[in-house]
Amino acid sequence: MTRTMRAAIFDLDGVIVDTAKYHYLAWKRLANQLGFDFSEADNERLKGVSRVRSLEILLEIGGLKVDAADREVMASRKNEWYVQYISNMTPAELLPGAVDYIAFLKTKGVKIALASASKNAPLILDRLKIGYLFDVVIDGTKASKAKPDPEVFIRAAADLGIPNEDCVVFEDAEAGIEAAIRAGMRSVGVGKPGNLTAADIVITGFAPLLTLSLIPA
Ligand code: BG6
Ligand code: MG
Repeated sequence: MTRTMRAAIFDLDGVIVDTAKYHYLAWKRLANQLGFDFSEADNERLKGVSRVRSLEILLEIGGLKVDAADREVMASRKNEWYVQYISNMTPAELLPGAVDYIAFLKTKGVKIALASASKNAPLILDRLKIGYLFDVVIDGTKASKAKPDPEVFIRAAADLGIPNEDCVVFEDAEAGIEAAIRAGMRSVGVGKPGNLTAADIVITGFAPLLTLSLIPA
């Protein structure tokens, strides 16, 4: 039996707003400073992953061993650059159709949550003035376990009061799709066809969902 979507749980970076490119630029800048290159393909492994774990993966790619104190300095440096990049962000960097699709779901009575690994999520929501869209926000300041652990999604569903199996997750990261599956939720991958193969469906953006009326019952 097909279950209705009673709640939609959205990742932030790379799903609602085009911040994924700024995370990539800041990590690449750090890699270059450390003497190695960092490709967009490498970057796929960092999407959805916490800052601390992202740095570990980056250092693995560069073949560097770094002690904990230096890792902390590097993570802060990357975050300073990232915050500089996003501090001038405007609503033009909202991904096409995302806000309209969420607004549309709300008119159908679907509950809306944000579930992001980012500690910068409050800043981004504030800058783009989109906090009002969400019934529940679980971000990197509230969750202790990073995707692919399902914690953020399970907490979002619990706070909304909706069973996991009635939630649909929208994600641009492999780690996020895995987390959704582990949470027992359906998932929509937002990205290039061929990526995110574990998702139930993959869309390149939200505009087609509106124009094709792919809507909850
Ligand atoms: C996720 C991003 O949303 O947040 C990751 O996809 C990022 O790339 C993670 O590392 C943590 O973000 P922040 O802003 O707390 O460093
Ligand atoms: Mg993301």
